[in-house]
Amino acid sequence: MSQKKLPKIGLLYLDYVLRFFDHSNFKGWPDKIETVTYHWKNDKDRFIREVKRKKIDVLVGNIPATAYETFKEIAAALPHVRFIPSIETQFPNKSKENVTLFCEKYDLAHPKTEIFYDIEKGYEYLKHCTYPKIVKRSYGPSNYGGYYVHKVDDYKEAKALFDRRKYVPMYIQDAIDLKDSGDIRVMLIGHKPVCAFWRYSGDGEWITNTSQGGSMSYDNVPMNALELAVKASKAAKAEYWACDIAIDAKTGKAYILECATAFAAFPYIRDWICQYIMWDLSDGRFRMPHVPLFSWEELGKMSPSMLRTMRHIYFAKYTPSADGAYWLADKGPFEMEEAGESRPEDVPDPIEPPASEEELPEEVKEAFDADTHDELPSDEKYTLADVTLTQLLTLQSMEEEMAEKIKSLIDEGKISRFEELEAYDFVPKEHLAMWSKAFREA
Ligand SMILES: Nc1ncnc2c1ncn2[C@@H]1O[C@H](COP(=O)(O)OP(=O)(O)O)[C@@H](O)[C@H]1O
Ligand SMILES: [Mg+2]
Repeated sequence: MSQKKLPKIGLLYLDYVLRFFDHSNFKGWPDKIETVTYHWKNDKDRFIREVKRKKIDVLVGNIPATAYETFKEIAAALPHVRFIPSIETQFPNKSKENVTLFCEKYDLAHPKTEIFYDIEKGYEYLKHCTYPKIVKRSYGPSNYGGYYVHKVDDYKEAKALFDRRKYVPMYIQDAIDLKDSGDIRVMLIGHKPVCAFWRYSGDGEWITNTSQGGSMSYDNVPMNALELAVKASKAAKAEYWACDIAIDAKTGKAYILECATAFAAFPYIRDWICQYIMWDLSDGRFRMPHVPLFSWEELGKMSPSMLRTMRHIYFAKYTPSADGAYWLADKGPFEMEEAGESRPEDVPDPIEPPASEEELPEEVKEAFDADTHDELPSDEKYTLADVTLTQLLTLQSMEEEMAEKIKSLIDEGKISRFEELEAYDFVPKEHLAMWSKAFREA
């Protein structure tokens, strides 16, 4: 057992952003784990100084899309600090455009996509392309229930959409005929799939959205979806990773719709990720988590509310002599392994030089503004009692997990006015005022 000094871990946090990891995920780590919080707005130099002062060797955490360019600069100023995941690995987190560029560079199957910064060329393309097409907002809050992801069936619809939404870049891709109206989320640690499930759309919806009456299933995730997710994880050199994958109804072929290091995961999965990181950082002094392939099919039989609270799930290695342990046998072809070291050239060339976060292109800002709820007439505002998860998720900077928590508080009758969320510390106070504008006075 190596007694080499362990590197100093710092958790990377950002104000207003839900924390993916906390200290409890690093159970057993003997040294103090530091935290460093980025406060936005010209906080770069102070953040860098704090990392240096605390002598942090490894910064663990996801960088949200809106801070990606800033953190490229921060990482460059901290050449001896390892970011987990690396800034390069987090490239697809920033935008759908980046996902497409990443898939193109690494030859990962994805829906054929055109991206236009030149609006006239975009409209011209729309006149002559085949339909249906899927149009998405590339950058900014994710879509929920079709708010930023649209299906258009002809030029007229496409034009009407872009005239109204003014998305820049224009991100237009082939529509996959989704097998069973669903797509598949695969989560990986060290390139090994540790959880996967189908998400099916609700009645009359084309988009898979479990928050809108859609359903999910841990069963029958096809091998080619897992293989594609593994290929993407390796290309990204990701310590942890998630892919959303579509299966073509006719051909059975798998396509990447989205991939990133930022995703919603049950706490026990975050524990596994941090066990893997501790293994990686300790030269094997800590045990690599063993997660049998398809174990999600068994765990998935438990209720989500149970899974949400389960911690430190431990699988021993399969011993052939033990009867009844058959399913624990790891029959799959995938091994958990060390993620490669990222290099600057791993990242695809951008179509346009990226603007720094402080100065987003005017069109993008406009697109954001068009979606804020400032000027909504009262009858278009939401009512707290019957606001849907999807509507909550349209609020600027709202995140899936936070929205789910807020929704449960509403459903359980614990709050009757949006402002009452002030009492709950998981809700960023700074956003409450803005968000409450979207709600009608009770
Ligand atoms: N090219 C496509 N073909 C068919 N369905 C798609 C396509 N792209 C997205 N979808 C559907 O829309 C959903 C949301 O799109 P996605 O790219 O995952 O954006 P987001 O996560 O921001 O909502 C997907 O889960 C899928 O159901
Ligand atoms: Mg998605």
